[in-house]
Amino acid sequence: MTDASINARDKSTPHISGLTEAEAAGIQIFEKPAPGSWTESFGLSTGPVSFEDDYDPEFYEDEKQAVFRRSWLNIGRVEQLPRNGTYFTKELQFLRTSVLVIRGMDGEIRAFHNVCSHRGNRLMWDENPSEESSGSCRQISCKYHGWRYELDGEISYVHNAPEFFDLKAEDLALPKIHCDVWAGFVYINLDKEPRQTLREFLTPTLEKFETYPFEKMPRVYHFETEVEANWKLFMDAFQELYHVPYVHGKVTNAALAQTGVDKVPQMIPYFGAYGKHRLMTTGGAKANKGVRVRRPIDALFEANFIGTDYTPDIGSLGDGVNPAGIENWGVDSWQLYPNSVIIAWSSNYWYTYHYWPLSPTRHRFEWTVGFAEPTTIRERLAQEHALVMMREGILQDANTLEATQLGIMSEGRTEFYLCDQEVALRHLHEVVKADVDAYRAEKGK
Ligand code: FES
Ligand SMILES: [Fe+2]
Repeated sequence: MTDASINARDKSTPHISGLTEAEAAGIQIFEKPAPGSWTESFGLSTGPVSFEDDYDPEFYEDEKQAVFRRSWLNIGRVEQLPRNGTYFTKELQFLRTSVLVIRGMDGEIRAFHNVCSHRGNRLMWDENPSEESSGSCRQISCKYHGWRYELDGEISYVHNAPEFFDLKAEDLALPKIHCDVWAGFVYINLDKEPRQTLREFLTPTLEKFETYPFEKMPRVYHFETEVEANWKLFMDAFQELYHVPYVHGKVTNAALAQTGVDKVPQMIPYFGAYGKHRLMTTGGAKANKGVRVRRPIDALFEANFIGTDYTPDIGSLGDGVNPAGIENWGVDSWQLYPNSVIIAWSSNYWYTYHYWPLSPTRHRFEWTVGFAEPTTIRERLAQEHALVMMREGILQDANTLEATQLGIMSEGRTEFYLCDQEVALRHLHEVVKADVDAYRAEKGK
């Protein structure tokens, strides 16, 4: 798929209205699109869906091969490798893989299987071999019998080498993993020969987002947790805003003037499909000023669950934001195939989400926030308060997932109904299923 799959409606029907009285008061109202039009323009059916792909063990096994072993996966950022010799590991136990990412003495970032060529000991780990680690080194040394490797993976020392039989240096180098960097994000691909380069995979429109100044928002906070739900279910929770008045009813205010499509708050005015990826763009805080609850503590700290009230000046946001050109742009949420999300907020901070499968019905969720360095104590306090409130909002989302997982596995119902505002999650499940079907056809399954 290419950018040609951007839905046609965006080009043919202007669906964002001009200014209204409400907008003049800081509230933007979008025209209601024709029912089903996003879904149809994505080339998807509008019928009910099965969520068997979120619990069936056979599907899960094939999904690992068809999706995760064949796609470019984002496993970190360049800031985790600030100097030559710095490294981090990424545990992908569901793929029986531990990845070692290391910046060589030549400055190159490389990825290897984190396994010793001697007797298979895991190479880099700290207290617990199944936990991720990071640090810096001049050589990669095995803790078991002392074999050592250069930072480019070549073998450099074998303890008591004459005792071995026909050792060849080329057989002992660490197995390489395809690795590339885009916009400071470190990607790997576990396929023997990746089907596309990283940049081809990202598509031209998304690739432009590389100019977004992530490096000017380097104050990073990271949270993670394990959730009793299939990884796609949590992606789904952040691919629509239809749930907001209910799941987040305590931090939105239904009594105030409503905005958005159909005057229901938090509807999304633009969806786009770019290859296997999706974009949702909204006015964010700008479109929904009237529907947020502003509690006294939010006023005091000048922040709330969608960020700080102030916007730091970080200069240009590059030429990749708001590719749909919506008025009053507030936020782009890139849903990157298969399992990561990048969100750019117009109040100048960014998020990433990552969803790593652990079993058919369990995954590890990672959330990272990047702020600009605060320049005053007031800004620092606003960031801290925003983080607490954002985390509360995300917990509200996560809290629903285990109930959803149980519900979709119920014998009582096998088909479920998605509205046009849920087009992005319909797209995710369809693309995953298409990849699994292609894999099964290839294997004659
Ligand atoms: S397993 Fe690594 S040196 Fe023996
Ligand atoms: Fe939510």
